[in-house]
Amino acid sequence: MHMAQKVKVAHMSELEPLIGKKVIVEDKQIGLFLMEDGAIKAVNNVCPHKQGPLSEGTVSGHYVYCPLHDQKIDLNTGIVQEPDEGCVETYEVEVIDDEVYVCL
Ligand code: FES
Repeated sequence: MHMAQKVKVAHMSELEPLIGKKVIVEDKQIGLFLMEDGAIKAVNNVCPHKQGPLSEGTVSGHYVYCPLHDQKIDLNTGIVQEPDEGCVETYEVEVIDDEVYVCL
């Protein structure tokens, strides 16, 4: 069985609502997003279309729009919305004492 690995990636003070932040863990680029309701989403930061950096995209509701060609990705599921297709990996996030951890 693959054991999830919990990695500290940021402090809450580094996150701004609706502004993505890119963190790098091992060989993965992860986009962190602080949502309006205070939840934090983590997805693979690399757009499945042509590698756009999702952390630089515009957040609206629970979606992020890729900064390169505006594909719309659901931050809850990682699924690219129609008419485009594809998906990015999503990761579980835990906050302990204002430190943000991502489970890989
Ligand atoms: S690279 Fe993201 S929409 Fe094209």
